Amino acid sequence: MPDELDVEAAREFGRELTKPDSGYRNIPNYGDFEGFIALENNQQTKLALRRHHWGQHYPPTIAKFGRQLDDIGVIVMSEVLRQSGIPESCWAQASGGYSSGGGTAFLNFVHYDTTHPNQGLRPHTDYGFVTILDVMAPGLQIQVGGEFIDVAVKPGFLAIHFGEALNFITRYSGRQVGAVVHRVLSQKSEDPVRHGIVYFANPDLDGELWQFDPTGEVQGSSSVANLFAELEQQLTA
Ligand SMILES: [Fe+2]
Repeated sequence: MPDELDVEAAREFGRELTKPDSGYRNIPNYGDFEGFIALENNQQTKLALRRHHWGQHYPPTIAKFGRQLDDIGVIVMSEVLRQSGIPESCWAQASGGYSSGGGTAFLNFVHYDTTHPNQGLRPHTDYGFVTILDVMAPGLQIQVGGEFIDVAVKPGFLAIHFGEALNFITRYSGRQVGAVVHRVLSQKSEDPVRHGIVYFANPDLDGELWQFDPTGEVQGSSSVANLFAELEQQLTA
């Protein structure tokens, strides 16, 4: 974790925002994925906002924290694309703008309410490029060789995993990236409320993804909307 990243301030913000008298509870929903969201089917309550809403709803320190995670996301994406063998001149187009500072980014503050006995979060892959997590409590597991293993709680470290959009754009590169299957175990009632900070690096949701090979030739493409709809279908099939 970079020294200049004020993760303690972000954690404090995350703890405060779901309090019963918190003004953040009144942040409106923008579509299905943004705003103050409490789902019925799992233990999650979250405040989720895309980059262009950070300045409006997050305090300056938190908006800055988000932009610092943007920088980390771009560094990780660039290194992955470098190792994939896709020529650098193709990265911005391949990533729907993300690798050049565009695309869509979410900064979400998530709570798992331990008084609800539901599954924390069923096994799934993330749809975007890169997910950056501040793991503060046990419960997150990733699938490795068919088995779920715990992601260790390591102070001073962020957990980073790759999603479906990165898998898609590296398909014809020299080195395809796998989307990591992960889940969150149900929290027991004696566990404390579990807080988490999650950053999602995504393409523009109304944009296009391109599959380049190592010579810079286009081998395929998809609109982001179609790719995500296909993934959704596989999930519910
Ligand atoms: Fe996830």
